Amino acid sequence: MTAYAWNDHTYDVVVVGAGGSGLRAALGCAQAGLKTACITKVFPTRSHTVAAQGGISASLGNMGQDDWRWHMYDTVKGADWLGDQDAIEYMVRAAPAAVYELEHWGVPFSRTEEGKIYQRAFGGMTKNYGEAPIQRTCAAADRTGHAMLHTLYGQSLKYAVDFFIEYFALDLIMQDGAVRGVTAWKLDDGTLHRYRAQRVILATGGYGRAYFSATSAHTCTGDGGGMALRAGLPLQDMEFVQFHPTGIYGAGCLITEGARGEGGYLTNSKGERFMERYAPTVKDLASRDVVSRSMTIEIREGRGVGPNKDHIHLHLDHLDPKILHQRLPGISESAKIFAGVDLTKEPIPVLPTVHYNMGGVPTNYHGEALTKTGGDPDTVIPGLMAVGEAACVSVHGANRLGSNSLIDLVVFGRAAGLRCGEALEVEASQPDLPKDAGESHLARLDRFRNANGGSPTSKLRREMQNAMQEDCAVFRTGETLAQGVKRVSAVHAAVPDISTKDRGMIWNTDLVETLEFDNLIVQALATTNSAVNREESRGAHAREDFPNRDDAEWMKHTLAWVDDKGAVKIDYRPVHAFTMSNDVEYIKPKPRVY
Ligand code: FUM
Repeated sequence: MTAYAWNDHTYDVVVVGAGGSGLRAALGCAQAGLKTACITKVFPTRSHTVAAQGGISASLGNMGQDDWRWHMYDTVKGADWLGDQDAIEYMVRAAPAAVYELEHWGVPFSRTEEGKIYQRAFGGMTKNYGEAPIQRTCAAADRTGHAMLHTLYGQSLKYAVDFFIEYFALDLIMQDGAVRGVTAWKLDDGTLHRYRAQRVILATGGYGRAYFSATSAHTCTGDGGGMALRAGLPLQDMEFVQFHPTGIYGAGCLITEGARGEGGYLTNSKGERFMERYAPTVKDLASRDVVSRSMTIEIREGRGVGPNKDHIHLHLDHLDPKILHQRLPGISESAKIFAGVDLTKEPIPVLPTVHYNMGGVPTNYHGEALTKTGGDPDTVIPGLMAVGEAACVSVHGANRLGSNSLIDLVVFGRAAGLRCGEALEVEASQPDLPKDAGESHLARLDRFRNANGGSPTSKLRREMQNAMQEDCAVFRTGETLAQGVKRVSAVHAAVPDISTKDRGMIWNTDLVETLEFDNLIVQALATTNSAVNREESRGAHAREDFPNRDDAEWMKHTLAWVDDKGAVKIDYRPVHAFTMSNDVEYIKPKPRVY
């Protein structure tokens, strides 16, 4: 192996990822006086949170009465009773304060006539426990994530977080089952860095790019999930992958659910507003799993639009162009660029597109990473925390409601910062790292850097993406999922035959993409194996061979471990069927009626 040298650093906390949750966590740790680093593979304001459009949920009640209990009910129901109700209570109660904190830090929210934060309707958000849609989603036009990310980055600089920008995190440093730090490769000069820390917080986002068509950025390669699996830790509920109903047909770019929140609606080839049949009360504002399945059924039954009858129309052409300009300027532009459509005059061609991973590193509501050991399903992994889409806290359960992601980022980013502030001593002395710390990380890097096989990364990646797209889709059967497992396993088995061409260490995108692919493929294995294993339908996991939700057998979280041979081990954790406080009772499962 070529000689590599480490640059060593010591911090109280190292956050990996600089999206909304990573920045909020880093900022919270720094506010607590902890020496805090944030490692990110892209410039912070280019993190995928920048692409979040429609808004952030909180029961502010600016557009009429609202209540955190209604928000809690909607989230539990949207999650199809797989969410942990203690964590859900924590999130919805903390939500209004989290939004006002963002406002005070400078997020330029859209305003009502009276100057309050503007809130729009979003799928699954209702008043009075499901009675009718409610306007609960706080918006900065359709660029809410963009506004938040810039504000949070500015605040992080103010609190003196040390940023390591364009550093690619390699792996967790483990010692006796505890996380002691993390390693990273600096992309612009090829140097290697080893961070010793009291806590590492994974805030690396989702792994949407395991699929061929996703609203997720190309950077969404689940790097934290890959690191966790290689460290021998489990991921939770990986079978639950959300399809957003309105990705632009052919391009996959997001058209915000806020479009339907502002009055947009879907039609089939007969011009019918078909959601009236599937969800008579909330119609186009049903939760995403319901709308995506309904669209898929319309297409399958021959009522899709276009020459191949393979997509659906989203109408905004009946709305006042002034409102579109004011509230949805971003998607007006996206529709023009990616679909060639002037949305004031024509419908937008759309299709359900992979958007969000409900699964991730299991955590409690303080952000501490969990595993199951012996009889304890909530064993805290010393030294490791996770937040945002990389984590599974689990507030979204089997299906996330739109706009509950941005609130998850800031509420649990803040919670992680508070936890570190309580639990850690500022600049406490830390034992030396083991002598061989990071050796296996270098061996992996070196193996891929010099890989000389017959299978280019791009070929293996495309095979994985096609298998996931075709066999682990909106609707699934045991047969398609078993085929998915087989195809993804074959791709994994071909990794030793991978080939890379660039042997350099500076801006080696060939190597970056290979490391990212290696992170994705293990999560594709966890996803397909967890999905074939769960013999029921719940939230985003719609099994045609098991069409009903089965609470007696399956109201439990899946844990999946993937070893270096690609073998997947499955176990379970109970869903937290209790709330955080006595202020609200556990919401008992109800049949699925929309
Ligand atoms: O549709 C959207 O604007 C996406 C929001 C979300 O995923 O929360």
